[in-house]
Amino acid sequence: MKNCLLILVLIAGHASAAGDPKNGAFLFRRCASCHAVGPYASAGYGPQLNGIIGRKAASTKDFKYSEAMKKSGLTWDEKTLAAYLRAPHDVVPGTTMRFWGIKDEQQVADLLSYMRTF
Ligand code: HEC
Repeated sequence: MKNCLLILVLIAGHASAAGDPKNGAFLFRRCASCHAVGPYASAGYGPQLNGIIGRKAASTKDFKYSEAMKKSGLTWDEKTLAAYLRAPHDVVPGTTMRFWGIKDEQQVADLLSYMRTF
């Protein structure tokens, strides 16, 4: 685990991007009313988020995405994901994700590090 975090720090380029997956798990409770992760995850109010980092936007089969998300052409890398979590409607205008966004960079980093484990 230590090695893994170290590698992530190196890839991300700056320390805060490594995040704290434990705090991320705590923060994910805000997402869990709509999103599932883990081996039995399926779509709910929102699409399941397994392997989200590196996944193409609107690519799960069991969720009906908005036209806006389907046409976004995005791939969820760390940068776009962080931007989307900060301000969903700025990154994908017209998205049906009803979420006001997380302004705190460290919280976003923690969430990403948690989601990376699925
Ligand atoms: C109130 C329900 C709700 C909450 C809370 C919510 N989301 Fe979403 N999310 C959605 C919906 C609905 C979509 C699909 C949006 C669309 O099609 O435009 C979505 C889409 C996404 C996507 C794009 C998925 C894909 O397959 O392209 C990501 C990533 C995401 N949400 C992450 C999060 C995270 C992380 C949180 C918590 C910080 C969160 N969401 C909170 C409802 C929600």
